[in-house]
Amino acid sequence: MLISKQPMINVLNGINTNRVPIWLMRQAGRYLEEYQQIRKNAGSFLNICYSPDLAKKVTLQPIHRFNFDAAIIFSDILVIPDALGQPVDFKPGVGPVLEPIRSVNSLAHLKLHQLKTHLAPVYEAVSSVRSELAENKSLIGFSGAPWTIATYMVEGGTSRDFTNTKLWACAAPDEFNNLIEILVSAITEHLISQIKGGADILQIFDSWAGLLSERAFERWCLAPIRKIVRGVLKEFPEIPIIIFPRLAGRRYLDVVEIEGISAVSLDHTLSLGWVHEHLQSKVIVQGNLDPIYLLAGGNAMREEVNRILDCLAPSPFIFNLGHGVLPNTPTEHVSELCDIITRFQRESS
Ligand code: CP3
Repeated sequence: MLISKQPMINVLNGINTNRVPIWLMRQAGRYLEEYQQIRKNAGSFLNICYSPDLAKKVTLQPIHRFNFDAAIIFSDILVIPDALGQPVDFKPGVGPVLEPIRSVNSLAHLKLHQLKTHLAPVYEAVSSVRSELAENKSLIGFSGAPWTIATYMVEGGTSRDFTNTKLWACAAPDEFNNLIEILVSAITEHLISQIKGGADILQIFDSWAGLLSERAFERWCLAPIRKIVRGVLKEFPEIPIIIFPRLAGRRYLDVVEIEGISAVSLDHTLSLGWVHEHLQSKVIVQGNLDPIYLLAGGNAMREEVNRILDCLAPSPFIFNLGHGVLPNTPTEHVSELCDIITRFQRESS
């Protein structure tokens, strides 16, 4: 295997270069004052996502500040329903709001054919980020997984118990499957377009994977992700794909068996010894500092970071959080985290 200039790519190819690359989920966003500034002037969150120039600037902000090994394109998992013709509004203090879809008849209104045109500004942002990004930095393209996106489409936003989605999937699985299939096609196309724009790596976020019972997990999480991975790899066999099946517990064991994936992103509930023994021998792992330690900083954070490094960094490993950066996280804590990871590399190489 050829050594890449990008440490992220080397690790994802299983090459142990004594380098622990670091990036953070939600590394761009509200905890950065330079983001707040752009956000204020842009009017809405989606205006940033659909303006290639603003999306590029915001994507690069955390790279300039912290020198992370990867940039993740600034967008959202909910641009997919928005592009399919189920408009999404991000209401400050509330979160995403959509007109819920609860019947098979409403699926006829979803327009797969307009996806590429609607999301063209995202692909343009991907290319312009790639052309400004240093050659040793990776650009991550992403999408939500079908199950997680479906929960927002059916509930009409974030939910406490996801009853409507779970009920539809359980009481009329063949109907619900139509929605999942539309999403499989949309997501596959969206990911491929991001590769064509210049994404080096893909991540699929299944944030609500942990809600599903055993057989539902197979049908609504694993099977659709397998299809997407197969579809993407058919066109781009070399692209590394990272899966984030949040809160899936022992079912991470099934996720690592998905053919063709390169890595899994670990949530913070998993035990490190178990991860090392059962997952790290199968795929590359990324994770899994509880974002609360990054908010807290100090010794609490240092000890937890070292515990993760001791257990997972002897094998090829990518440092990340177990979920996204919390809004009030002090930037000094993020800088210190990056210092710890950099120092660890020098000491061990
Ligand atoms: O830096 C990055 O990681 C890239 C950008 C990114 C955003 N959302 C920006 C965003 C990514 C990768 C996401 C993924 C995402 N979005 C997920 C999966 C990961 C996870 O957190 O579980 C989910 C479930 C969403 C859906 C979503 N988007 C919600 C529920 C919300 C509202 C809650 C919140 O955190 O504000 C969003 C809004 C959102 N997405 C913001 C950002 C920066 C905040 C928008 C603002 O500026 O007001």
